[in-house]
Amino acid sequence: MDVVFRRADLAQRPVGAIVVGILKGERKPTGAAAAVDRASGGAITELLSRRDFEGKSADVAVLYPRRIKARRLIVVGLGPRAELTPHRARLAAAAGVRRARELRAGTVATVALGAGRGRLDPVAAAQATAEGAVLGPWRFTAYRSKPGTPALRRVEIVESDGAKAAVLAAAVERGTRWAEGVVLARDLAWMPGDDLTPERLAERAKEVARGAEARIEVLDVPAMERLGMNCILGVGRGSVHPPRFVVLERGPRPRAGRVPPTVVVVGKGVTFDSGGISLKPREKMHEMKYDMSGAAAVLGLFAALPGADLPCRVVGLIPTAENMPGGRALKPGDVLRAMDGTSIEITNTDAEGRLLLADALVYAKRYEGATVLDLATLTGAICIALGTAAAGLFTSDDRLAGELIAAGETAGERLWRMPLWEEYERDLESDTADVVNAAASRDGGACNAAKFLQRFPAGMRWAHIDMAGTGWAERDQPHERKGPTGFGVRLLLEWLTRHAAG
Ligand code: BES
Ligand code: MN
Ligand code: ZN
Repeated sequence: MDVVFRRADLAQRPVGAIVVGILKGERKPTGAAAAVDRASGGAITELLSRRDFEGKSADVAVLYPRRIKARRLIVVGLGPRAELTPHRARLAAAAGVRRARELRAGTVATVALGAGRGRLDPVAAAQATAEGAVLGPWRFTAYRSKPGTPALRRVEIVESDGAKAAVLAAAVERGTRWAEGVVLARDLAWMPGDDLTPERLAERAKEVARGAEARIEVLDVPAMERLGMNCILGVGRGSVHPPRFVVLERGPRPRAGRVPPTVVVVGKGVTFDSGGISLKPREKMHEMKYDMSGAAAVLGLFAALPGADLPCRVVGLIPTAENMPGGRALKPGDVLRAMDGTSIEITNTDAEGRLLLADALVYAKRYEGATVLDLATLTGAICIALGTAAAGLFTSDDRLAGELIAAGETAGERLWRMPLWEEYERDLESDTADVVNAAASRDGGACNAAKFLQRFPAGMRWAHIDMAGTGWAERDQPHERKGPTGFGVRLLLEWLTRHAAG
């Protein structure tokens, strides 16, 4: 499916469906909807006057006016004007375009939703509409014998005012590219563990790097041994699929001692988390194929980087392993030495994500002066704390926290700040080694996991995002389906676009 900008008059488009937005409580359509209303002989006015449609966020009504060239008119709710955000525009576009797909409309035309009377910035509205148009109708069908409703052929986002065309066209293109990054992340997270092993994930990373003109290095087991990445190696030991460490890099290289501003993004890449010897209960264990969602977000980000034109170097680090029980597997009581020499007593082999991240965060220190962000489906405890409404954000840098939270709000990927208090350190005391990998009690599980991570990127500007809750949707939403969400891609792109220059 193509999402394209087109300089045209919405009411005149001869497409399978036109999508227009209505604010909650509007008695009369405004902006593009008003023009379509006139052309259709008052179809929307009539819908509103019958009070069959309130304009609630992502509500959908389908009309069949005779007088317009389009076969259907889909009216979507934007919610109350006072609450209108780019994310509400994204949800409305997603709901409308998804319905168009279900109706096999083939082609769709809409406008930058929320930009007229809604007073959203037209560029932000156009980008969000394009994102919704990609994400709403998306489905994961790779394993279905009958793929079901065919994909749409084309979604046009139109504007007749030539003066606005150039910026809106760029916004549509950006939104489309960003959303395609999200789709890549979802597709990867959705894949069964057996088909996306660490080796396969590294292969996929190479494909992404090729498409994004990024430099890539994949470290195999001997290379990781030479670097002392014993934690990643330890987690991978129980599996027949050996671990990998992927380094992606894009943007200016250091030259003549001058290092460009650098952002390092680390993604947890556990391709399947059985818990290892500390085996997980059987309920929902199959969902643990998405335990590489942090890595997927890094790859989605890289896929969307061309054209973003960032003045900084972006580095992606993906420690990837399969966490399985087995004769060679890591055992509770074993002690691992992380890449920086920290000794870690394994008290629970299911706390494997932080082990992968420990080595990756030590590796990140070679990018001196960089900002380091890690994304990980790290703890069930963050789901208990925040549900699926927000990911947990852990950082001691207040400015970075503010920037990330604001970027997440626009991206529709919410973050909620969590503490890194000293007290959590006590949960990690070991009788044998420097630290344990898992606290004895469940209490504060997301916080002591973050506290565990904090020691490794010492001296770096660092934030940890625990996306175990947001990485998997428990129910369908307009812009995502029940299952892996591709969380983090839009957040990272939004934050990078705003703050790449430092
Ligand atoms: N991948 C899981 C975290 C997780 C749990 C994600 C549930 C999504 C849903 C992680 O590796 C894990 O197993 N964490 C343990 C840590 C515990 C052993 C300290 C957890 O959260 O139970
Ligand atoms: Mn685990
Ligand atoms: Zn895990």
